[in-house]
Amino acid sequence: MADSPAKLDVKRYPLAWNRSYVRKGTQWRGGFDLAGYAEFLDLSGNVLELGSGDGNTVDVLLPLCGNLICADIAVSSFDTLAMKNPRINRVVADARVLPFKTDTFGAIFSRHVLTHAIPGDDVLMLNEIKRVLAPGGMVLIEVFTPGDMRFGKGSEIYPRTFLREDDLVWRFYLGKELDDLVKKTGLEVRHFQLLERKVRHEGQIYQRESVVMMASKT
Ligand SMILES: C[S@@+](CC[C@H](N)C(=O)[O-])C[C@H]1O[C@@H](n2cnc3c(N)ncnc32)[C@H](O)[C@@H]1O
Repeated sequence: MADSPAKLDVKRYPLAWNRSYVRKGTQWRGGFDLAGYAEFLDLSGNVLELGSGDGNTVDVLLPLCGNLICADIAVSSFDTLAMKNPRINRVVADARVLPFKTDTFGAIFSRHVLTHAIPGDDVLMLNEIKRVLAPGGMVLIEVFTPGDMRFGKGSEIYPRTFLREDDLVWRFYLGKELDDLVKKTGLEVRHFQLLERKVRHEGQIYQRESVVMMASKT
C-alpha cells in the first residue's frame, strides 16, 4: 500500500462529501434499473441504501421496499431535493462502523460507495455490510472500473485510486479485486456483471464502465 499523502486524512476523508453536497447539491443522475436484480432481493422487510447520496437510487427503491433506511456519512446529502421527502428514513452513518444491529437487513444496496474507499476501508465496509445483513440476505454492490471515463483524474494515491482537487477519493476496481474482497468477507458471490455504455456529452462520446455484484450471507 502506498504512503498516504499529507493531504489525505485517512480517518476523515469521506467527510469531503459533506462539502460537496453543500456546494453542488444534487449531482448524481442516471437513476437505477432494478430489472433483472429485483427477483433475487427480498425488499419486503428492512432494506438499507448505504451511501444514499442525493436520492438517485432511492427514488427507485422507496415504492418497492417494506422499510427503507437511507444512510450516508454526509449530513448535507439529506438537504438535497429528493432526500427531503418525509417518507424517507434518514441516518447519518459511516459505512465503516454502522450503527445497526447484526442481522438487520434482508437487502442492502451500495452503489458507488466502495468507489470512494481507500484500501483497508473497503474491508471495513464489506465486513459491516456482512454483519448487518440478515442470514439469507443479499447485497448489491456497484463500483466503477478502470475503463470508466472518470479514471485518472487527480493524483494517484493508491493503485487506481485518485485524490481529486475537491478532496474526494475515486477508486476504480478490477473485477477480480472486488471478487476477492467480497469473498474474503465470507459473503457468497451470486452475480457478477460488467456494465459498459457510451454517453454523449457536449458532442463527445464517453465510456462508462462499472461492475454490479450481488452477494449473499448464508
Ligand atoms: C457517488 S455517491 C453515490 C450516491 C448513490 N448511492 C448513487 O448511486 O447515486 C457516493 C455516496 O457515498 C457516500 N459515502 C462515501 N463514503 C461513505 C462512508 N464511509 N459512509 C457512508 N457514506 C459514504 C457519500 O457521501 C456519497 O453520498
